[in-house]
Amino acid sequence: MTPPLPAAPVIKTVYIETVGCQMNVLDSELVIGALKRDGYTLTDNSAVADLMLFNTCSVREHAEDKTFSALGRVAPYKLANPDKVIGVIGCMAQKDGDAIRERAPYVDLVVGTGQLAKIPELVQIIRETRAPQLAVSLGRKDADRQRVELSFESYDPTRDPEMRSTPFQAYVRIQIGCDKFCTYCVVPSTRGPEQSRHPDSILNEVRILVDQGCKEVTLIGQTVNSYAYDHGDGRRTRFSDLILRIHDVGGLRRIKFVTNFPKDMTNDLLDAVRDLPKLVKYLHVPLQSGCDDVLGRMKRLYTIGDYWEMLHRSRERIPGVAVSSDFIVGFCGESDASFQKSMDIVDRAKFKNSFIFKYSERPGTKAMERYPDDVPDGVKKQRNHDLLMLQNERSLEDSRSMIGKAVEVLVEGPSRQGAKSAPGGIRQLIGRTMTDHIAVFDGPDRLVGEILTVDIAEASGFTLYGAARTGEVLGGVGAAPAARLPRRMGLSLV
Ligand code: SAH
Ligand code: SF4
Ligand code: F3S
Repeated sequence: MTPPLPAAPVIKTVYIETVGCQMNVLDSELVIGALKRDGYTLTDNSAVADLMLFNTCSVREHAEDKTFSALGRVAPYKLANPDKVIGVIGCMAQKDGDAIRERAPYVDLVVGTGQLAKIPELVQIIRETRAPQLAVSLGRKDADRQRVELSFESYDPTRDPEMRSTPFQAYVRIQIGCDKFCTYCVVPSTRGPEQSRHPDSILNEVRILVDQGCKEVTLIGQTVNSYAYDHGDGRRTRFSDLILRIHDVGGLRRIKFVTNFPKDMTNDLLDAVRDLPKLVKYLHVPLQSGCDDVLGRMKRLYTIGDYWEMLHRSRERIPGVAVSSDFIVGFCGESDASFQKSMDIVDRAKFKNSFIFKYSERPGTKAMERYPDDVPDGVKKQRNHDLLMLQNERSLEDSRSMIGKAVEVLVEGPSRQGAKSAPGGIRQLIGRTMTDHIAVFDGPDRLVGEILTVDIAEASGFTLYGAARTGEVLGGVGAAPAARLPRRMGLSLV
């Protein structure tokens, strides 16, 4: 008698949509990595996926609205196929917990930022029992600090290069949470208390990434330059000490870090950025407003004078450094005169670029408790537009100042225009410079993943146009292994 054939393995598919910041991009990579080890394959077809995950952001109301409308779109799939598992994970899940299921009762799984490692196990339970599952960390006031910290576990399992936008670039989380409590911001609630990771575990992760072919790491934290690890025996690893150790990892070519808190921009850090050749000469240091009164109500802990001092000091210590900022317009009590101060600073500060947001009142924040959201939406829109137009002019000047320079570019892949032509020939490629400028130039696909010199001949607002040095294109390429072309994940960052 012939033995029965073994059952064909059941291939389960997962679909994921990610909004929000770099933290979420990294979390999605980790969650997909864990699910793949559990037998899942990734699909970009939401209709057929067995598991649909929405990795969410709460920083502005618009981000939450986007998630609820995406959930509305997938509700019919669940009706048609009750076995489909729908999960809401990340910041909204941590902030709203079970309340998400009041608006979208067909959601099976709600998992907060500090509990993501549980996803494979919880999905399995849902498959077996069809009972909805919820896993969120403790709220900041639910217990003492140590217990709250413990409930936000740092989630760093084996990495999955396939989920990254390119195989040679990766995010590395060095700090979780935030303790700054800016009055407008939900992040200290959604990500929990600030905790710096042990330097050895960061180093270990960077080495593994480099072994997998990674050339550039971006160290991420909400206030990355506040990183400090106390070893408990009197030793303390500062951020500058950490990057010095990461710099020593052989094979790693570039190190970036985001986002910086203006008050924590210490000289030891600036000098490390200047002196270490792998460090990108770029600082993202959000100012938020050009008016001291507004900064006070935001509880940003610095004045405009402090920020200018930090900016001058950074530029003095790191010649040629590029600096970018974030601004919120229409924060509570922002008068025309206070807004004008934001315009003045954008006019003079020579930011490479700025991200500009309309203030969005967030439940649970101090700003909502203390101050009325009194700037009409029309005014916020107008201010957003005016500040952006002014920043765009300054960004164009900044880009034009790069014309005639030779810059070092890490090639990320074909540009949007290059992607329209067939692979194999010469097409337009895109990459970033050591000052985080975007540069495009023509070249063969085998340059992807390489670092080369590009002579800049033209510039638009946010793009430098140039020619790759022919010698390097020919010489550098012959021996280089063909880089795997990056598969870009469709991310809509809010
Ligand atoms: N940790 C980072 C930023 C995190 S949120 C930092 O402190 O720089 C990213 C940006 O979103 C912030 O810099 C701020 O400009 C904006 N932001 C945060 N909360 C907001 C709100 N309630 N409304 C509008 N914009 C907000
Ligand atoms: Fe939010 Fe302020 Fe923390 Fe940034 S520093 S995450 S803006 S509370
Ligand atoms: Fe990031 Fe949004 Fe959460 S900005 S930390 S994904 S609230």
